[in-house]
Amino acid sequence: MGFKTIASTGMLALSATHFASSVVADAPTCPNDTPLSCSTSTEEASCCFNTPGGSLLLTQFWDYDPATGPSDSWTIHGLWPDNCDGTYEEFCDESREYSNITSILQDQGRTELLSYMTKYWKDYSGDDESFWEHEWNKHGTCINTIEPDCYTDYTPQEEVGDYLQKTVDLFKTLNTYKAFADAGIKPSSSKTYTLSEIHDALAAIHDDFAPYVGCDGDYLNEAWYFYYVRGNLITGQYEPSEKLTQSNCPESGIKYMPKSNGQESTCPNRR
Ligand SMILES: *[C@@H]1O[C@H](CO)[C@@H](O)[C@H](O)[C@H]1NC(C)=O
Repeated sequence: MGFKTIASTGMLALSATHFASSVVADAPTCPNDTPLSCSTSTEEASCCFNTPGGSLLLTQFWDYDPATGPSDSWTIHGLWPDNCDGTYEEFCDESREYSNITSILQDQGRTELLSYMTKYWKDYSGDDESFWEHEWNKHGTCINTIEPDCYTDYTPQEEVGDYLQKTVDLFKTLNTYKAFADAGIKPSSSKTYTLSEIHDALAAIHDDFAPYVGCDGDYLNEAWYFYYVRGNLITGQYEPSEKLTQSNCPESGIKYMPKSNGQESTCPNRR
């Protein structure tokens, strides 16, 4: 466990007791003057500088038909490294693509994480394991600061558990459902909202930066929160940032539907 940039026996002892939930205690500290991702084009890739995927997106779904997850919560889509211009790399390391995410997490003792994911990281067709594999294989493998070389005592697939835990940790800080509720925006099959009402409600939980919101026609179904990171993906500082992708929702007449138990999928264009 642990990255090359730190060695602290105290932290290692702590992590032994709290292995399942406090993996962060093991992770590296990068120098305080590490540049923020995307802030410079001259800094080279390292375990303390995310590049080319320096824009990190925590993405969420509102899957209402068929509904996934709790009716009063959005669900996790993923954590994506986008380039600093909104484009992105995908499937970056075939040798680290896995089809056994559940086993990996069980083997690492991350049972709390697994049960949280089972509740909040849902596949709309019911195959959560495949969805987690897809997210890791497509996006996680492209994050340079969690490559195996960044770890001192690398144990196989350690970075996979770290990545999934980080995704969940970020998701927990971005309660989209509550941000909307606090602004008086509740799921309704009759009400409509404007894009600016939606942007304002969500900017309130992201340092005044509105996330990208995605729609299927008039129906709201996604939110992507953009960050830059100072340091390593796992232990670095996340700074909310301007979205690099413009919403595909209409300016007004947007519907935020209650979760139901319908049969039809309404979620095209999945990443
Ligand atoms: C998961 O799959 C990889 C690649 O096939 C394998 O090396 C690893 O041992 C598996 N892990 C577990 C815990 O089954």
